[in-house]
Parts: sequence; C-alpha cells; structure tokens
Amino acid sequence: MLVNNKHYRAIWTEGSTVCMINQNLLPFQFEIFYSNSIEDTCIAIISMITRGAGSIGAAGAYGMLQAIYASDKRDLQSDLLKAKKMLDSTRPTAANLFYGTHRVYEACKISEDFAISEAHAVADECVEHAIKIGEYGNELIKDGFRIETHCNAGWLALVDYGSALSPIYKAFENGKNIFVYVDETRPRSQGSRLTAWELFQQGIPHAIIPDNAGAHYLSKNEIDIIIVGADRIAANGDTANKIGTLEKAIAAKFYNIPFYVAAPLSTFDTNIPSGSEIPIEERSGDEVNYVSGLAKNRQYIEVLISNPGSKALNPAFDVTPAELISGIITEKGIIKPTKESIEKIFDI
Ligand code: MRU
Repeated sequence: MLVNNKHYRAIWTEGSTVCMINQNLLPFQFEIFYSNSIEDTCIAIISMITRGAGSIGAAGAYGMLQAIYASDKRDLQSDLLKAKKMLDSTRPTAANLFYGTHRVYEACKISEDFAISEAHAVADECVEHAIKIGEYGNELIKDGFRIETHCNAGWLALVDYGSALSPIYKAFENGKNIFVYVDETRPRSQGSRLTAWELFQQGIPHAIIPDNAGAHYLSKNEIDIIIVGADRIAANGDTANKIGTLEKAIAAKFYNIPFYVAAPLSTFDTNIPSGSEIPIEERSGDEVNYVSGLAKNRQYIEVLISNPGSKALNPAFDVTPAELISGIITEKGIIKPTKESIEKIFDI
C-alpha cells in the first residue's frame, strides 16, 4: 500500500535484515524497524512492532531465513530447529506464525536454497492470497454498504492488502460508495490506531466507534455487514480473532446481519477439531491500565487510566463459534464454516 506515495509492505527483507513498519509507533510516527538477528525478530514479534496473523507468519519465515544466514552450516537442520522453537514461542495464537516457520524448516530438509526461496514465498503468497480475498469479498459488498470491522486485519496485518480490509479496498477501488465503522479495539487500539490510519491513507470514509457501540449501530440498522480477520480457524470453522470479536458475532446474529471472517488458508489449523483447543494469549494487564498517545503539547506519553493498584486481565483473543459465522472468505473462494467445506478446500 502507498504511504506518502511510496509503496510499502508491512514487512520485507534487505539481505539478512528484516525490515518492519514499526506498528507500535503508528499512527503518530512512520518508522521502519531493522532487525539484524533472529533474536531481534523475536523481540519485534513479542513487542508487536510487527503484528497481525499474516505479518507474523512472514516474520517467522524471515526469522528462519536469518537463522540460515547465521548458521555455520555444520548442522543446519538442528540450528533451524532451535530457531523454529524460539520463533514459535513468541506468540501462541495465530496459526500463520507456525505455518511460516514450519514451511522453511521442512524446505531445508530438501536444500538450503529451497528453504531461502520458501521464506520469501511465505510473504509473497500472503500478498497474493490477500488480493484474492479482496476479489471474493468484494462480491459481498453492495454499493452504499456500511461495514463494521474489528481490530486491524488490513495490510499492516497481512504484509499487504489485508484480509478483512482487502474486500473494502477492492470495493472502494471499484467505485462503490461505502462507509466503514472501525471498532476502537481496546486495549491496544488496533482499530483506532491502525485500521483508521490505513483507511485514512486510502481516503476511505470511516469513523472510529467505541468497542461497546457496535450493538447500538446494529440495532439502528446502520450496519449492513461485519467483516473481521482471523488468527486461527479450527477444523470445524470455530475462529479465534481479536478479543471482542465474539460479542460482535453474537450481536450480529441477534440483528440478523451477515458476519464474515476473512482469512487465508494459512490461518486454518485443521489439526485442532474445535475452537476450544486454540491457545489464547494472555497479555500484560498494563496494556489495559495504561494508554499511550500524543499529549496536547504533541509529546508522546503513557498514562495510567485505571484505579491505581487494581489488577487487570488481558486475554488477547476470543473464539467465535462457527454457527455465528455466515462464511469465511479465503483465497479459494467463500466457504461455509463447516468441517465438510473446510475438508473440501484442503482436499482432506
Ligand atoms: O494481537 P494482534 O494485533 O497481532 O492480533 C491480530 C489481529 O490483528 C486480529 O485479531 C486480526 O483481526 C486478525 S490478523 C489478520
């Protein structure tokens, strides 16, 4: 996507350096974080300098690439196994991370060159799939539609284009008159900080809404469709996505509004029969109790917004049962969230 008229991906490589748009600084500052080692790439994933399922999948694959370059090649496979364990331990929920490291690890059993090309393929395919998701998802968006989205499943989260936002970009590009309701997405505010920034850059009409306002707009008949991304989809279609997604799906069902999940097949985990087995990341309560942003004097500050001394709980994801999902928009088309449709698309 374009930032100040220059095309960027959310993450890319320059030799053995992994370059990432520092998402923690957005929307106030646009800065690139340069990782020169697998250790720094792990830190970037943990601290969410790079984030979003597809982008951390690419970060995992590129971290493996850094491990190949750093290896003395006496026992490359065992160096890569260590690297894989290190990268896989950074964040537990998004399937794409493990997909990225696994692909490079397995490719290295064939040859080093193949492993290198696989690392790049993970990121490149993420972009190709995001474009396809945009094309299929665009079919669901009619002229005049008001769309709600949660968190950030845009180009920052998927290397380029996005999952939930890709259909929105396509619909806008096709001249459809659309409006996007952007859930703020507390506690890290990926909606108000990142999705709003992306849509603003592209000139797409939108408004940020408080997380607890979604049902209100649904009840007023002001939302035509909800499209969200996904971090892991189980074999039966149950979907883990950013905390708060489940509430949106329940409200959408009540008001009979279509609720779609957009995700590449690399987000599916067919080894997990249902969503109850998806590990949910618990993050620090400080993310709930403190917020950071620009003070009126334009100084970047962090402030406590809760009762001093109160503990906060911070589950980063929740699981939406398949029965609440109207369909899953993938790079191979829109499928029903059922075991049968998922098996069919994976040729299982
Ligand atoms: O914790 P994050 O920001 O890495 O969470 C991932 C997400 O952004 C969302 O859950 C998103 O909807 C799916 S990622 C394409």
